[in-house]
Amino acid sequence: MRLIFLGAPGAGKGTLATAISKRHELPQISTGDIFREAVKNETELGRKVRGIMERGELVPDQLTVELVRERLSRPDVREGYILDGFPRTIPQAEALAGFQTIDRVINFRIDEEVVVRRLSGRRVCRSCGAIYHVDNMPPKRENLCDRCGGELYIRDDDTIEAIRKRLEVYERQTEPLIAYYRERELLRDIDSSRSVEHSQAQIEEILSALGSDLRA
Ligand code: AP5
Ligand code: MG
Repeated sequence: MRLIFLGAPGAGKGTLATAISKRHELPQISTGDIFREAVKNETELGRKVRGIMERGELVPDQLTVELVRERLSRPDVREGYILDGFPRTIPQAEALAGFQTIDRVINFRIDEEVVVRRLSGRRVCRSCGAIYHVDNMPPKRENLCDRCGGELYIRDDDTIEAIRKRLEVYERQTEPLIAYYRERELLRDIDSSRSVEHSQAQIEEILSALGSDLRA
């Protein structure tokens, strides 16, 4: 299954991609995680994207597309994958269509005020990238990852200014992808304003219908 998780910042794409990836043994490919790793390791890519990400803007299309093209050429994606946060512009979607056939696009629907609450309470593990929330999904021990014991931190783009900017960029550049994929009959909506379990159940239902379609 070749899946795209589409949605506003803080909609829960990363949280659900981790859960679905584990259950279905599909690699989770998050462009945001790849860029953050590059920034952490101070690579050439990291130096290019650091400021862009901190401001909440988008990395140029060409750079992002090349990165994804390379990632999707590796053998572990043969049985499928989850693209988390890619594509986010029409040119990215068009480029992707040139080298991959996508089976489903899951659109995470959510209101802006829920997003702001989620992002302002998010904590991420510095070592393994696990995602927490101070109220909704607190770690068992304060500021320490349940999975690996790593230190939790606040993402550089989870400041109020960067959150506002990311939402504005989402509306202008990413939201048009909803119509793009709806027209191609690939889009399925989920209500992502409730619990993680509720989102997961909706996605599982979409995937089981997709499984029947693919077998037919
Ligand atoms: P990226 O890392 O993709 O960030 P984003 O799209 O802004 O999305 P987030 O990761 O913030 O949110 P999410 O939907 O994954 O939510 P999460 O599961 O963490 O991109 C970062 C930057 O990289 C971009 O701004 C850009 O600069 C660059 N970039 C990346 N891809 C690019 C591309 N294709 N082109 C160009 N540039 C690109 O959940 C959020 C919080 O809510 C967490 O605390 C979580 O615990 C909590 N939560 C989640 N689900 C629930 C729930 N159901 N109930 C309660 N709480 C929940
Ligand atoms: Mg994410």
